[in-house]
Amino acid sequence: MKLLSSILLLNTIEAGWKQKWEERFGNAVEDKRATERNAACDAKALSETAKFEIQGGSWDCPALGQDVANILCEPKCDDPTDRGNWPRRSFIKVQCRTNPTVKIRNVSNNMQCNPDLCLESTAAVDIPKGQISFSKRNKSKTLFSVTCDGKTGTQAAVICFNSSGALTSKTHDWQNVCDPVLTQTTTEPPTTEFAPLTDSIKSGLETCVSASNFPTGGRKKRERLSKIVGGVNAEEGSWPWITRLFLTESIGGGSGFLCSGSIIHNHWVLSAAHCCDGIAEVVATFGDISRSTFESGQFSLTSTTFFNHPEWGQGADGDFGNSDWCLIKFNEDILAAAPEPEKVKIACLPSEPIEHGSGCWVAGWGTTSSGGSTSTTLLSAGVNILGKDYCENFSNNGILMPDDVCAGLPDNDNNGLTDPGKDACQGDSGGPLICPVDGKAVLAAVVSRGVGCASEGFPGLYSATFNAKDWMRDIILNN
Ligand SMILES: *[C@@H]1O[C@H](CO)[C@@H](O)[C@H](O)[C@H]1NC(C)=O
Ligand SMILES: *[C@@H]1O[C@H](CO)[C@@H](O)[C@H](O)[C@H]1NC(C)=O
Ligand SMILES: *[C@@H]1O[C@H](CO)[C@@H](O)[C@H](O)[C@H]1NC(C)=O
Ligand SMILES: *[C@@H]1O[C@H](CO)[C@@H](O)[C@H](O)[C@H]1NC(C)=O
Repeated sequence: MKLLSSILLLNTIEAGWKQKWEERFGNAVEDKRATERNAACDAKALSETAKFEIQGGSWDCPALGQDVANILCEPKCDDPTDRGNWPRRSFIKVQCRTNPTVKIRNVSNNMQCNPDLCLESTAAVDIPKGQISFSKRNKSKTLFSVTCDGKTGTQAAVICFNSSGALTSKTHDWQNVCDPVLTQTTTEPPTTEFAPLTDSIKSGLETCVSASNFPTGGRKKRERLSKIVGGVNAEEGSWPWITRLFLTESIGGGSGFLCSGSIIHNHWVLSAAHCCDGIAEVVATFGDISRSTFESGQFSLTSTTFFNHPEWGQGADGDFGNSDWCLIKFNEDILAAAPEPEKVKIACLPSEPIEHGSGCWVAGWGTTSSGGSTSTTLLSAGVNILGKDYCENFSNNGILMPDDVCAGLPDNDNNGLTDPGKDACQGDSGGPLICPVDGKAVLAAVVSRGVGCASEGFPGLYSATFNAKDWMRDIILNN
């Protein structure tokens, strides 16, 4: 300590002794002297740089506080991508002599940083298997070039607009120029007016109650809806409103016809008029899936009371086959008679005509081909509702009656005719065409007729329940 303080004293007295003292006292003297010198140098660098404020940036003097011959200070922007408005290689340099001297180059009182939108934009660009780098700029535009790994030369020139940072290039898909993305043939299904189809009915559709299908007026009963138990699996009651009908021309007759119907009320089943025509008795089997086996929950009721729609078979409207509805009355409450209530439910009636394109389902025990043998188990198929215009234009069914519902597969193969493959067939008559409407299983129509089954250009014809509502209400409320 003693020694150092005396050096300090000497140094302040006579700077010219420097050499001598160094020779005599070695490193300790040099260290102290460097500290002295740099303190002055640091102070000079700080005072000089303070004279030139940088908007949005600061002076960067990495050598401050170090034992160096020069302290170099350079203007830097807070945003490292921002190069500021000053010329390249602007600086303030302090030479650390006994009296530090200052060298200033291209420094002004108007040093500003402006975020360089172009550098920001390109910093955000990721070039797979390559890179984008700055080439040159002028006041309004910056030019960048894209180079690819392992390739020489520029693969794309990118122009950036200084004011917006927007990047443009004449090179197609310049961001992927080094690693072209295989142009995927977007096989998006064309937006179609037809709902996609499934053959199994959607699970969880709600069913209805008599009072919701046929409100009796006055205080409207609150609609109670019950849900189908189980999924699309027919065994689990996915068609709980369907009933298999055995229709005979004499009471207790041994031979008869196979049709289907739908429960629309606790005491009523809706089927097709051509099923009931000339019939004396109908045995309806409910809760049934397999015709050949007796299943739990299955039961039968017999009726001799049916009502055909008066316009069916009349032909006054130009068609003998339309308005194909038959109402069958059961004295027993069908739902109350069900040993397994979850398997026997009431289908909902539509409050509006079913829309063109809807994806619906038809089910039955009918033949699986025209003239073929009937099915032992309940089969279902997905079909689209084909609006009047569409059906007339794309089928050979001719002019449709107002109550005719045309359903099948649309003309997906674009040959001008509806496609073959999905339809109701013989034995399915009177059965339900169910459409999902607001989560409800809506009985849109009754299987009526067709030319062949599932043939090209001959979608099936059904009788719309919407058109029969007044008649049904009248029959049901009065019988
Ligand atoms: C920067 O400084 C150098 C020398 O001091 C001078 O020749 C040059 O013109 C300056 N550049 C600008 C852009 O001010
Ligand atoms: C961009 O251009 C505007 C006007 O031309 C100019 O004021 C601004 O300083 C430029 N920005 C950069 C980062 O060069
Ligand atoms: C900047 O360069 C582009 C072409 O590279 C040119 O069209 C434009 O006029 C230039 N703008 C200025 C302000 O020099
Ligand atoms: C049916 O054909 C008529 C006459 O060519 C045409 O005006 C109409 O748009 C077509 N409708 C449909 C649904 O294809």
